[in-house]
Amino acid sequence: MALAIGVMGAGSIGCYVGGRLLARGHDVLFIGRERIRAELTAHDLRLTDIGGAAEVVAKERVRVETEAAMLADRDVILVCVKSAQSEEAGRALASVVRKDALIVSMQNGVRNAETLRQVMPGKIVLGGIVGFNVVSKDTGTFQRGTTGPLAIEMPADPADVVARVEALGAALTESGFETELPTDIRSKQWSKLMMNLNNAVSALSGAPTPQLIFTPGYRRVLRALIGEALMVLDAAKIRPARLGAIPVRYFPTLLALPTAVLRVAARAQLQMDPEARSSMWEDLMRGRMTEVDFLNGEIVALAKTCGASAPLNARIVEMVHDAENENKGSPGLTPDALWSALDQ
Ligand SMILES: NC(=O)c1ccc[n+]([C@@H]2O[C@H](COP(=O)([O-])OP(=O)(O)OC[C@H]3O[C@@H](n4cnc5c(N)ncnc54)[C@H](OP(=O)(O)O)[C@@H]3O)[C@@H](O)[C@H]2O)c1
Repeated sequence: MALAIGVMGAGSIGCYVGGRLLARGHDVLFIGRERIRAELTAHDLRLTDIGGAAEVVAKERVRVETEAAMLADRDVILVCVKSAQSEEAGRALASVVRKDALIVSMQNGVRNAETLRQVMPGKIVLGGIVGFNVVSKDTGTFQRGTTGPLAIEMPADPADVVARVEALGAALTESGFETELPTDIRSKQWSKLMMNLNNAVSALSGAPTPQLIFTPGYRRVLRALIGEALMVLDAAKIRPARLGAIPVRYFPTLLALPTAVLRVAARAQLQMDPEARSSMWEDLMRGRMTEVDFLNGEIVALAKTCGASAPLNARIVEMVHDAENENKGSPGLTPDALWSALDQ
């Protein structure tokens, strides 16, 4: 089944995922800001992978528009805006998209699909998960920094929607993604959120992901944040489902391993570009608001609903907001500086 695909929010994830589909010959239309339209008019779209392999789509083949109205004929719309922009993007799409179009949230956090559903009543909105990391390198280049799956929610029915989700899954697989179609995406989104607690540590330290994982001091911070979040999830009776090889409940144990042992374990599970960093780090460096309220902030909000507390994640949220307000990029905190800031 050939699908006409639209990307709402041509940024790191939109251009990378949409670009891979386009490179495999799928019909893809990007909606983005004038800035990205100018960039992709001037430069070919270049998708680089871990290890440096690159796929290039000639600029003449890349269609970027700035108005959501252009998505009226699309079978599938991949929503790739930041969480704080979901409501606005959903409102822009609501009166435009076909009634039978699949709207897939490719965003982090656990509430974006619900936000889209609320502003697009009657539309088919599905959750999704992007399990890898991409940063924009400007001049049309989007660099993937880690391995990881793509997941799209599979509804129980009706049969025609199931068939289109299967067709989308097949298109993504054929475009080189490790694709999953889980029926219960929410419990996997909680697992992804636990992994994304790392993003704030990345943003505040400025350290590349491998350095975060293999530096004991950063691991101590990460372990404390994840350990606290796991207690909150337990109190709220939420069971995160497995996403990737290792269940998130083992993360604190893994993070406590000696660095040499962890290096061996990580090598078998995850490939990382030495310079991979989180999109939250990229947001701070580009002077943009981050998604911290939808990640660590989600743990703080959940704690309030179930009589638990999450002071460490609350402190991290404050620190990221301070960095946003200062607008000087990443504060470059060392492991000790981060740890003592958490103690305050
Ligand atoms: N990057 C990653 O490694 C990664 C990995 C997994 C999941 N995710 C998730 O994927 C989502 C997107 O992240 P990202 O890093 O790709 O963000 P991004 O690079 O900021 O891309 C989003 C783009 O959409 C544009 N946009 C927002 N509203 C729009 C509208 N109404 N019309 C046209 N363009 C619009 C934004 O422009 P402005 O900035 O000018 O508003 C921005 O250029 C987030 O939820 C993120 O958590 C990201």
